[in-house]
Amino acid sequence: MVQPIRVAVTGAAGQIGYSILFRLASGETFGNRPVILQLLDLPIPEVQKALQGVAMELQDCGFKSLAGIECTDDPNVAFNGVSWALLVGSKPRGPGMARADLIRENGPIFIGQGNALEKGAGDMRVLVVGNPCNTNCLIAASNCKGVPKERFFAMTRLDENRAIAQLANKAGVTNAEISRVSVFGNHSESMYPDFENAKIAGKSAKTVIKDLKWLRGEFVGNVQNRGKAIIAARGKSSAASAASAAIDHVKDLEKKTARGQWFSAAVWSDGSYDSPKGIYTSMPITSDGKGGYSVVQGLKLSKWAKDKIRVTNEELLAEREVVKELLK
Ligand code: NAD
Ligand code: LMR
Repeated sequence: MVQPIRVAVTGAAGQIGYSILFRLASGETFGNRPVILQLLDLPIPEVQKALQGVAMELQDCGFKSLAGIECTDDPNVAFNGVSWALLVGSKPRGPGMARADLIRENGPIFIGQGNALEKGAGDMRVLVVGNPCNTNCLIAASNCKGVPKERFFAMTRLDENRAIAQLANKAGVTNAEISRVSVFGNHSESMYPDFENAKIAGKSAKTVIKDLKWLRGEFVGNVQNRGKAIIAARGKSSAASAASAAIDHVKDLEKKTARGQWFSAAVWSDGSYDSPKGIYTSMPITSDGKGGYSVVQGLKLSKWAKDKIRVTNEELLAEREVVKELLK
């Protein structure tokens, strides 16, 4: 009998929750392994009622891999015994805001959740999606004493997926032909999506897309500003694509990464690529398929790219300064 995997999702009654839960439950993410969903949202009657509605729909899908659903407003219940905690629950930005504007309102959420994770979860992995996700991840990990910082990730996979789509579109190929794209730094307008090491159908992206001005200008800018563009178009922040990226992250960490491939996530900085320590910053990583990861080493980056990485990491240091009272 295969042991079920317990997965907590916070903000489960929200937009991203409505997309992500069905893909966690369907068998797509964990294969044949039964899944117990532990769903957290705010202790507000209407919110809990909406959460019950989502749980009803999950039941109605009849997924063979869904072994249980628990709805709660208590983080200690939500995180009890989980292998994965997806920390989505927090306020999204609206038009005209930067993600960092959310720091004072959303940051404190991750203190209590870090404490609850420390008490309840065993060998878990945590993916922070709620913005500003790198710094919220730092707050959660710092308030989760005794749990290795390497078990926490902030999501930059959406940025990588956006970069892949931009390159594929420009080169006139499918997304499947794009590989080795990395996102460095903060999930903010300063992030650096690296094309210098990317491949298109096995060839250097720079030799396929010969337009360096486009790569350094429009490509980087489009990825950096995509979240804002979606808010301007939809009036709400990205949700289905964010949920999809979180599913990609979990799936990629659960399996051993194929040789020569990698994916992006904000991880506890080990100083690679001259990144300062003491922050969660995005880098290319590979998974060992057992919950561990390694940062891809030795990528060649121009001085121009290194300057971009320095700037985005400086922004993370500044965000850390803003939340220093929230860190243990
Ligand atoms: P939403 O407003 O639709 O849903 C958020 C949910 O979180 C709500 O149900 C709310 O009640 C709940 N919530 C708020 N505080 C909570 C708390 N303390 N504990 C538990 N639940 C809580 O928002 P959304 O569109 O689902 O976005 C959620 C977050 O994800 C936002 O911060 C958004 O900016 C972020 N986001 C990040 C990425 C990324 O790439 N990292 C992408 C998209 C969105
Ligand atoms: C995104 O990148 O779409 C999210 O972080 C939402 C936002 O505020 O841009």
